[in-house]
Amino acid sequence: MSILSGKNILLGITAGIAAYKTANLVRLFIKAGANVKVVMTPASKDFITPLTLSTLSKNPVVSSFTNDEDDNAMWNNHVELGLWADLFLIAPATANTLSKMANGTCDNLLLATYLSAKCPVYFAPAMDLDMYKHESTKMSFETLKSFGNVMIPATSGELASGLIGEGRMAEPEDIVAFIEKDVLDKLPLKSKKILITAGPTYEAIDPVRFIGNHSSGKMGFEIAKAAANLGAQVILITGPSHQTVSHSLIKVIRVISAQDMYEQAHQYFEDVDIAILSAAVADYKPKYIASQKIKKKESTFTIELEKTKDILKSLGEIKKQQFLVGFALETNNELQHAKGKLESKNLDLIVLNSLNDKGAGFGGSTNKVTFITAAHDILEHELKSKTEVAQDLMQQILKQTHA
Ligand code: CTP
Repeated sequence: MSILSGKNILLGITAGIAAYKTANLVRLFIKAGANVKVVMTPASKDFITPLTLSTLSKNPVVSSFTNDEDDNAMWNNHVELGLWADLFLIAPATANTLSKMANGTCDNLLLATYLSAKCPVYFAPAMDLDMYKHESTKMSFETLKSFGNVMIPATSGELASGLIGEGRMAEPEDIVAFIEKDVLDKLPLKSKKILITAGPTYEAIDPVRFIGNHSSGKMGFEIAKAAANLGAQVILITGPSHQTVSHSLIKVIRVISAQDMYEQAHQYFEDVDIAILSAAVADYKPKYIASQKIKKKESTFTIELEKTKDILKSLGEIKKQQFLVGFALETNNELQHAKGKLESKNLDLIVLNSLNDKGAGFGGSTNKVTFITAAHDILEHELKSKTEVAQDLMQQILKQTHA
Protein backbone atom coordinates (compact mmCIF):
# COMPACT_ATOMS: atom_id res chain seq x y z
CA MET A 1 0.00 0.00 0.00
CA SER A 2 1.29 3.45 -0.88
CA ILE A 3 2.07 5.96 1.84
CA LEU A 4 -0.23 8.27 -0.14
CA SER A 5 -3.24 6.05 0.50
CA GLY A 6 -6.06 8.03 2.11
CA LYS A 7 -4.24 11.33 1.63
CA ASN A 8 -6.00 14.34 0.14
CA ILE A 9 -3.92 15.51 -2.79
CA LEU A 10 -4.59 18.82 -4.46
CA LEU A 11 -3.15 19.03 -7.94
CA GLY A 12 -2.58 22.51 -9.36
CA ILE A 13 -2.19 22.64 -13.13
CA THR A 14 -0.71 25.61 -14.96
CA ALA A 15 -0.43 26.40 -18.65
CA GLY A 16 2.43 24.31 -19.94
CA ILE A 17 2.30 21.66 -22.64
CA ALA A 18 3.18 19.04 -20.01
CA ALA A 19 -0.34 19.60 -18.64
CA TYR A 20 -1.42 16.77 -20.96
CA LYS A 21 0.50 14.39 -18.69
CA THR A 22 -1.56 15.33 -15.63
CA ALA A 23 -4.32 12.90 -16.65
CA ASN A 24 -1.85 10.13 -15.93
CA LEU A 25 -0.71 11.84 -12.75
CA VAL A 26 -4.28 11.92 -11.42
CA ARG A 27 -4.72 8.27 -12.35
CA LEU A 28 -1.53 7.29 -10.50
CA PHE A 29 -2.56 9.17 -7.35
CA ILE A 30 -5.99 7.51 -7.43
CA LYS A 31 -4.31 4.13 -7.92
CA ALA A 32 -2.16 4.87 -4.86
CA GLY A 33 -5.40 5.27 -2.87
CA ALA A 34 -5.33 9.07 -2.59
CA ASN A 35 -8.29 11.45 -2.90
CA VAL A 36 -7.58 13.95 -5.65
CA LYS A 37 -8.95 17.41 -6.38
CA VAL A 38 -7.73 19.60 -9.20
CA VAL A 39 -7.37 23.37 -9.40
CA MET A 40 -6.33 24.84 -12.77
CA THR A 41 -5.23 28.21 -14.04
CA PRO A 42 -7.65 29.43 -16.71
CA ALA A 43 -4.99 29.20 -19.45
CA SER A 44 -4.14 25.58 -18.60
CA LYS A 45 -7.58 24.55 -19.89
CA ASP A 46 -6.21 25.07 -23.42
CA PHE A 47 -3.91 22.09 -22.79
CA ILE A 48 -6.21 19.63 -21.03
CA THR A 49 -9.92 19.74 -20.34
CA PRO A 50 -11.46 19.94 -16.88
CA LEU A 51 -13.83 17.16 -17.98
CA THR A 52 -10.91 14.73 -18.39
CA LEU A 53 -9.58 15.64 -14.96
CA SER A 54 -12.92 15.62 -13.15
CA THR A 55 -13.71 12.21 -14.66
CA LEU A 56 -10.39 10.76 -13.54
CA SER A 57 -10.31 12.45 -10.13
CA LYS A 58 -14.04 11.84 -9.48
CA ASN A 59 -14.22 15.41 -8.16
CA PRO A 60 -15.27 18.75 -9.68
CA VAL A 61 -12.37 20.72 -11.13
CA VAL A 62 -12.15 24.43 -10.31
CA SER A 63 -10.35 27.22 -12.13
CA SER A 64 -11.95 30.53 -11.16
CA PHE A 65 -13.19 32.21 -7.99
CA THR A 66 -16.78 31.82 -9.13
CA ASN A 67 -18.56 29.62 -11.56
CA ASP A 68 -19.81 32.50 -13.69
CA GLU A 69 -21.63 30.37 -16.25
CA ASP A 70 -24.19 29.83 -13.55
CA ASP A 71 -26.78 32.51 -12.68
CA ASN A 72 -26.42 31.60 -9.03
CA ALA A 73 -22.66 31.81 -9.20
CA MET A 74 -20.99 29.99 -6.34
CA TRP A 75 -17.75 31.12 -4.75
CA ASN A 76 -15.02 28.50 -5.05
CA ASN A 77 -13.53 28.60 -1.60
CA HIS A 78 -9.74 28.59 -1.91
CA VAL A 79 -9.32 28.56 1.88
CA GLU A 80 -11.37 25.38 2.24
CA LEU A 81 -9.52 23.79 -0.66
CA GLY A 82 -6.19 24.71 0.92
CA LEU A 83 -7.27 23.24 4.26
CA TRP A 84 -8.67 20.08 2.65
CA ALA A 85 -5.31 19.23 1.12
CA ASP A 86 -2.74 17.10 2.92
CA LEU A 87 -0.40 17.84 0.08
CA PHE A 88 -0.46 20.39 -2.78
CA LEU A 89 1.40 19.58 -6.00
CA ILE A 90 1.72 22.17 -8.75
CA ALA A 91 2.54 20.33 -11.96
CA PRO A 92 3.37 21.48 -14.48
CA ALA A 93 4.57 24.67 -12.82
CA THR A 94 5.33 27.35 -15.40
CA ALA A 95 7.94 30.09 -14.94
CA ASN A 96 5.08 32.58 -14.75
CA THR A 97 3.22 30.79 -11.93
CA LEU A 98 6.44 30.07 -10.01
CA SER A 99 7.38 33.75 -10.16
CA LYS A 100 3.92 34.74 -8.91
CA MET A 101 4.10 32.16 -6.11
CA ALA A 102 7.48 33.49 -5.06
CA ASN A 103 6.10 37.04 -4.95
CA GLY A 104 2.73 36.42 -3.34
CA THR A 105 0.75 37.40 -6.42
CA CYS A 106 -2.76 36.18 -6.19
CA ASP A 107 -4.58 36.82 -9.45
CA ASN A 108 -6.19 33.42 -9.94
CA LEU A 109 -7.75 30.67 -7.84
CA LEU A 110 -4.68 28.43 -7.97
CA LEU A 111 -2.45 31.17 -6.54
CA ALA A 112 -4.99 32.12 -3.87
CA THR A 113 -5.15 28.44 -2.89
CA TYR A 114 -1.35 28.31 -2.75
CA LEU A 115 -1.32 31.25 -0.34
CA SER A 116 -4.02 29.64 1.80
CA ALA A 117 -2.56 26.12 1.90
CA LYS A 118 -1.00 25.01 5.18
CA CYS A 119 0.12 21.62 3.86
CA PRO A 120 3.44 20.69 2.22
CA VAL A 121 3.73 22.11 -1.30
CA TYR A 122 5.59 20.43 -4.16
CA PHE A 123 6.19 21.97 -7.57
CA ALA A 124 7.33 20.30 -10.77
CA PRO A 125 8.65 22.96 -13.16
CA ALA A 126 8.15 22.63 -16.90
CA MET A 127 9.45 25.17 -19.37
CA ASP A 128 11.89 25.72 -22.20
CA LEU A 129 15.59 25.29 -21.44
CA ASP A 130 16.51 28.99 -21.54
CA MET A 131 13.64 29.90 -19.25
CA TYR A 132 14.69 27.10 -16.86
CA LYS A 133 18.24 28.47 -16.73
CA HIS A 134 17.25 32.14 -16.42
CA GLU A 135 18.42 33.91 -13.28
CA SER A 136 14.92 35.11 -12.48
CA THR A 137 13.54 31.54 -12.66
CA LYS A 138 16.38 30.31 -10.48
CA MET A 139 15.48 33.06 -8.03
CA SER A 140 11.89 31.79 -7.95
CA PHE A 141 13.13 28.25 -7.25
CA GLU A 142 15.34 29.43 -4.41
CA THR A 143 12.66 31.67 -2.89
CA LEU A 144 10.08 28.88 -2.99
CA LYS A 145 12.53 26.40 -1.47
CA SER A 146 13.25 28.92 1.30
CA PHE A 147 9.48 28.88 2.02
CA GLY A 148 9.80 25.11 2.56
CA ASN A 149 8.25 24.18 -0.79
CA VAL A 150 9.78 21.14 -2.41
CA MET A 151 11.02 21.25 -5.99
CA ILE A 152 10.73 18.17 -8.17
CA PRO A 153 13.45 19.03 -10.70
CA ALA A 154 12.76 19.04 -14.40
CA THR A 155 14.62 16.53 -16.51
CA SER A 156 16.59 16.84 -19.74
CA GLY A 157 15.30 15.82 -23.12
CA GLU A 158 13.53 17.05 -26.17
CA LEU A 159 11.32 20.02 -25.36
CA ALA A 160 8.11 21.19 -27.03
CA SER A 161 10.14 23.90 -28.80
CA GLY A 162 12.22 21.21 -30.49
CA LEU A 163 15.28 22.24 -28.49
CA ILE A 164 17.04 19.67 -26.36
CA GLY A 165 17.94 20.45 -22.76
CA GLU A 166 16.70 20.79 -19.20
CA GLY A 167 13.09 21.83 -18.62
CA ARG A 168 10.92 18.76 -19.22
CA MET A 169 8.51 18.11 -16.40
CA ALA A 170 9.48 14.95 -14.51
CA GLU A 171 7.44 11.95 -15.69
CA PRO A 172 4.24 11.30 -13.68
CA GLU A 173 5.59 7.97 -12.35
CA ASP A 174 8.73 9.74 -11.14
CA ILE A 175 6.74 12.58 -9.57
CA VAL A 176 4.65 10.07 -7.58
CA ALA A 177 7.77 8.12 -6.53
CA PHE A 178 9.51 11.38 -5.54
CA ILE A 179 6.58 12.48 -3.37
CA GLU A 180 6.17 9.02 -1.79
CA LYS A 181 9.84 8.99 -0.82
CA ASP A 182 9.79 12.56 0.45
CA VAL A 183 6.65 11.97 2.55
CA LEU A 184 8.17 8.80 3.98
CA ASP A 185 11.53 10.45 4.73
CA LYS A 186 9.81 13.18 6.73
CA LEU A 187 7.66 10.90 8.87
CA PRO A 188 8.54 11.04 12.58
CA LEU A 189 8.93 7.28 13.00
CA LYS A 190 10.88 6.75 9.79
CA SER A 191 13.48 4.00 10.29
CA LYS A 192 12.05 3.08 13.72
CA LYS A 193 11.03 -0.53 14.34
CA ILE A 194 7.93 -1.33 16.37
CA LEU A 195 6.75 -4.64 17.76
CA ILE A 196 3.03 -4.96 18.44
CA THR A 197 1.08 -7.87 19.89
CA ALA A 198 -2.64 -8.16 19.23
CA GLY A 199 -5.69 -10.37 19.60
CA PRO A 200 -6.41 -13.30 21.90
CA THR A 201 -4.39 -16.47 22.37
CA TYR A 202 -5.91 -19.95 22.19
CA GLU A 203 -4.68 -22.55 24.68
CA ALA A 204 -5.33 -26.08 23.51
CA ILE A 205 -7.21 -28.55 25.70
CA ASP A 206 -7.29 -31.36 23.15
CA PRO A 207 -7.07 -31.46 19.33
CA VAL A 208 -10.48 -29.75 18.94
CA ARG A 209 -10.93 -27.55 22.01
CA PHE A 210 -9.21 -24.54 23.47
CA ILE A 211 -9.44 -21.82 26.12
CA GLY A 212 -9.70 -18.40 24.51
CA ASN A 213 -11.23 -14.96 25.00
CA HIS A 214 -13.31 -12.40 23.11
CA SER A 215 -10.48 -10.11 22.00
CA SER A 216 -11.00 -9.15 18.33
CA GLY A 217 -7.47 -7.85 17.73
CA LYS A 218 -8.91 -4.61 16.34
CA MET A 219 -7.06 -2.32 18.77
CA GLY A 220 -3.68 -3.87 17.96
CA PHE A 221 -4.30 -3.77 14.20
CA GLU A 222 -5.27 -0.09 14.47
CA ILE A 223 -2.07 0.63 16.41
CA ALA A 224 -0.07 -1.14 13.71
CA LYS A 225 -1.68 1.02 11.03
CA ALA A 226 -1.18 4.24 13.01
CA ALA A 227 2.49 3.38 13.57
CA ALA A 228 3.07 2.47 9.90
CA ASN A 229 1.37 5.69 8.82
CA LEU A 230 4.03 7.53 10.82
CA GLY A 231 6.71 5.66 8.87
CA ALA A 232 7.56 2.89 11.36
CA GLN A 233 8.42 -0.64 10.30
CA VAL A 234 5.93 -2.76 12.18
CA ILE A 235 6.08 -6.37 13.27
CA LEU A 236 2.55 -7.31 14.26
CA ILE A 237 2.29 -10.57 16.15
CA THR A 238 -1.35 -11.52 16.40
CA GLY A 239 -3.28 -14.36 17.95
CA PRO A 240 -6.29 -15.81 16.07
CA SER A 241 -8.19 -12.84 14.64
CA HIS A 242 -10.33 -12.03 11.59
CA GLN A 243 -8.55 -8.69 11.23
CA THR A 244 -6.43 -8.17 8.14
CA VAL A 245 -4.11 -5.42 7.04
CA SER A 246 -2.19 -4.75 3.88
CA HIS A 247 0.56 -2.17 4.29
CA SER A 248 4.08 -2.31 2.91
CA LEU A 249 5.49 -1.38 6.35
CA ILE A 250 3.55 -3.98 8.35
CA LYS A 251 4.72 -7.59 8.66
CA VAL A 252 2.00 -9.78 10.18
CA ILE A 253 2.96 -12.90 12.11
CA ARG A 254 0.01 -15.10 13.06
CA VAL A 255 0.32 -17.26 16.16
CA ILE A 256 -2.06 -19.39 18.23
CA SER A 257 -0.90 -19.78 21.82
CA ALA A 258 0.73 -17.61 24.48
CA GLN A 259 3.89 -19.69 24.12
CA ASP A 260 4.01 -19.03 20.33
CA MET A 261 3.49 -15.33 20.94
CA TYR A 262 6.19 -15.32 23.62
CA GLU A 263 8.71 -16.94 21.27
CA GLN A 264 7.96 -14.60 18.36
CA ALA A 265 8.03 -11.51 20.59
CA HIS A 266 11.42 -12.50 21.99
CA GLN A 267 12.77 -13.18 18.53
CA TYR A 268 12.11 -9.60 17.40
CA PHE A 269 12.37 -7.58 20.63
CA GLU A 270 16.13 -7.04 20.67
CA ASP A 271 16.01 -5.13 17.40
CA VAL A 272 13.03 -2.85 17.97
CA ASP A 273 12.79 0.69 19.31
CA ILE A 274 9.25 0.44 20.64
CA ALA A 275 7.10 -2.50 21.76
CA ILE A 276 3.36 -2.18 22.34
CA LEU A 277 1.74 -5.24 23.87
CA SER A 278 -2.00 -5.01 23.37
CA ALA A 279 -2.74 -8.74 23.08
CA ALA A 280 -5.18 -10.35 25.50
CA VAL A 281 -2.85 -13.19 26.35
CA ALA A 282 -4.30 -16.13 28.29
CA ASP A 283 -2.94 -16.05 31.83
CA TYR A 284 -3.39 -19.83 32.23
CA LYS A 285 -3.19 -22.80 29.91
CA PRO A 286 -4.06 -26.49 30.39
CA LYS A 287 -1.15 -28.25 32.07
CA TYR A 288 -1.61 -31.29 29.84
CA ILE A 289 -2.96 -31.25 26.28
CA ALA A 290 -4.86 -34.46 25.53
CA SER A 291 -3.54 -36.06 22.37
CA GLN A 292 -7.00 -37.45 21.50
CA LYS A 293 -10.38 -35.76 21.72
CA ILE A 294 -11.59 -35.98 25.32
CA LYS A 295 -14.76 -38.12 25.62
CA LYS A 296 -17.56 -37.14 27.97
CA LYS A 297 -17.81 -39.59 30.87
CA GLU A 298 -18.14 -38.10 34.36
CA SER A 299 -20.74 -35.47 35.30
CA THR A 300 -18.01 -33.00 36.23
CA PHE A 301 -14.69 -32.50 34.59
CA THR A 302 -11.61 -30.66 35.80
CA ILE A 303 -8.81 -29.21 33.75
CA GLU A 304 -5.62 -28.45 35.60
CA LEU A 305 -4.20 -25.09 34.50
CA GLU A 306 -0.76 -23.61 34.80
CA LYS A 307 0.44 -20.06 34.27
CA THR A 308 1.52 -18.94 30.83
CA LYS A 309 4.66 -16.86 30.54
CA ASP A 310 3.98 -13.15 30.98
CA ILE A 311 5.37 -11.80 27.71
CA LEU A 312 5.24 -8.15 28.72
CA LYS A 313 6.93 -8.76 32.07
CA SER A 314 9.66 -10.83 30.46
CA LEU A 315 10.38 -8.04 27.95
CA GLY A 316 10.40 -5.46 30.78
CA GLU A 317 13.12 -7.51 32.47
CA ILE A 318 15.46 -7.48 29.47
CA LYS A 319 14.64 -4.13 27.88
CA LYS A 320 17.49 -1.76 27.00
CA GLN A 321 16.72 1.08 24.58
CA GLN A 322 13.19 -0.12 23.93
CA PHE A 323 10.18 2.00 24.89
CA LEU A 324 7.75 -0.51 26.35
CA VAL A 325 3.98 -0.07 26.40
CA GLY A 326 1.44 -2.35 28.08
CA PHE A 327 -2.33 -2.49 28.36
CA ALA A 328 -4.37 -3.08 31.48
CA LEU A 329 -8.00 -4.11 31.43
CA GLU A 330 -9.46 -3.53 34.87
CA THR A 331 -12.82 -3.67 36.60
CA ASN A 332 -12.00 -2.14 40.00
CA ASN A 333 -9.34 0.07 41.59
CA GLU A 334 -8.35 0.72 37.99
CA LEU A 335 -5.67 3.38 38.45
CA GLN A 336 -4.02 1.58 41.33
CA HIS A 337 -3.90 -1.74 39.45
CA ALA A 338 -2.64 -0.11 36.26
CA LYS A 339 0.12 1.74 38.14
CA GLY A 340 1.05 -1.55 39.81
CA LYS A 341 1.45 -3.23 36.40
CA LEU A 342 3.40 -0.23 35.06
CA GLU A 343 5.94 -0.71 37.81
CA SER A 344 6.04 -4.48 38.17
CA LYS A 345 6.46 -4.94 34.40
CA ASN A 346 8.99 -2.06 34.05
CA LEU A 347 6.94 -0.12 31.47
CA ASP A 348 7.30 3.38 30.07
CA LEU A 349 3.58 3.74 29.46
CA ILE A 350 0.44 1.80 30.25
CA VAL A 351 -2.93 2.10 28.52
CA LEU A 352 -5.77 1.55 30.96
CA ASN A 353 -9.17 0.27 29.82
CA SER A 354 -11.84 0.22 32.45
CA LEU A 355 -14.62 -2.27 31.87
CA ASN A 356 -16.82 0.16 33.84
CA ASP A 357 -16.66 2.57 30.90
CA LYS A 358 -19.35 1.94 28.30
CA GLY A 359 -17.85 1.34 24.86
CA ALA A 360 -14.40 0.40 26.19
CA GLY A 361 -12.46 -2.84 25.87
CA PHE A 362 -13.08 -5.94 23.78
CA GLY A 363 -14.99 -6.44 20.56
CA GLY A 364 -16.44 -3.03 19.66
CA SER A 365 -14.99 -0.36 17.42
CA THR A 366 -14.61 2.21 20.22
CA ASN A 367 -12.42 2.47 23.27
CA LYS A 368 -11.99 4.77 26.25
CA VAL A 369 -8.49 4.85 27.61
CA THR A 370 -6.32 6.53 30.19
CA PHE A 371 -2.58 6.75 29.62
CA ILE A 372 -0.31 6.49 32.64
CA THR A 373 3.33 7.35 32.08
CA ALA A 374 6.35 6.08 33.99
CA ALA A 375 6.42 9.51 35.69
CA HIS A 376 2.83 8.75 36.81
CA ASP A 377 1.24 11.44 34.64
CA ILE A 378 -2.37 10.47 34.11
CA LEU A 379 -3.94 11.42 30.80
CA GLU A 380 -7.62 10.62 30.44
CA HIS A 381 -9.19 10.41 26.99
CA GLU A 382 -12.81 10.48 25.87
CA LEU A 383 -14.63 7.59 24.22
CA LYS A 384 -13.21 7.46 20.68
CA SER A 385 -12.97 5.10 17.74
CA LYS A 386 -10.14 2.57 18.05
CA THR A 387 -8.53 4.26 15.04
CA GLU A 388 -8.36 7.54 16.95
CA VAL A 389 -7.23 5.86 20.17
CA ALA A 390 -4.37 4.28 18.19
CA GLN A 391 -3.40 7.69 16.80
CA ASP A 392 -3.53 9.25 20.30
CA LEU A 393 -1.32 6.46 21.59
CA MET A 394 1.26 7.02 18.86
CA GLN A 395 1.25 10.78 19.59
CA GLN A 396 1.81 10.05 23.29
CA ILE A 397 4.73 7.75 22.42
CA LEU A 398 6.19 10.42 20.11
CA LYS A 399 5.96 12.93 22.96
CA GLN A 400 7.65 10.64 25.45
CA THR A 401 10.38 9.49 23.08
CA HIS A 402 10.88 12.95 21.53
CA ALA A 403 10.90 11.24 18.14
N1 CTP B 1 0.44 -9.75 28.98
C1 CTP B 1 1.43 -10.48 28.36
N2 CTP B 1 1.55 -11.82 28.61
C2 CTP B 1 0.73 -12.45 29.45
C3 CTP B 1 -0.28 -11.71 30.11
C4 CTP B 1 -0.40 -10.36 29.84
O1 CTP B 1 2.19 -9.92 27.56
N3 CTP B 1 0.89 -13.75 29.67
C5 CTP B 1 0.35 -8.31 28.74
C6 CTP B 1 -0.88 -7.87 27.98
O2 CTP B 1 -0.67 -7.87 26.59
C7 CTP B 1 -1.11 -6.46 28.51
C8 CTP B 1 -0.58 -6.55 29.92
O3 CTP B 1 0.26 -7.67 29.98
O4 CTP B 1 -0.32 -5.53 27.84
C9 CTP B 1 -1.63 -6.63 31.01
O5 CTP B 1 -2.27 -7.80 30.98
P1 CTP B 1 -3.34 -8.23 32.10
O6 CTP B 1 -3.82 -9.58 31.73
O7 CTP B 1 -4.35 -7.16 32.26
O8 CTP B 1 -2.49 -8.22 33.38
P2 CTP B 1 -1.90 -9.33 34.23
O9 CTP B 1 -0.52 -8.90 34.53
O10 CTP B 1 -2.07 -10.65 33.56
O11 CTP B 1 -2.74 -9.22 35.56
P3 CTP B 1 -4.24 -9.66 35.92
O12 CTP B 1 -4.70 -10.63 34.89
O13 CTP B 1 -4.07 -10.26 37.25
O14 CTP B 1 -5.02 -8.39 35.94
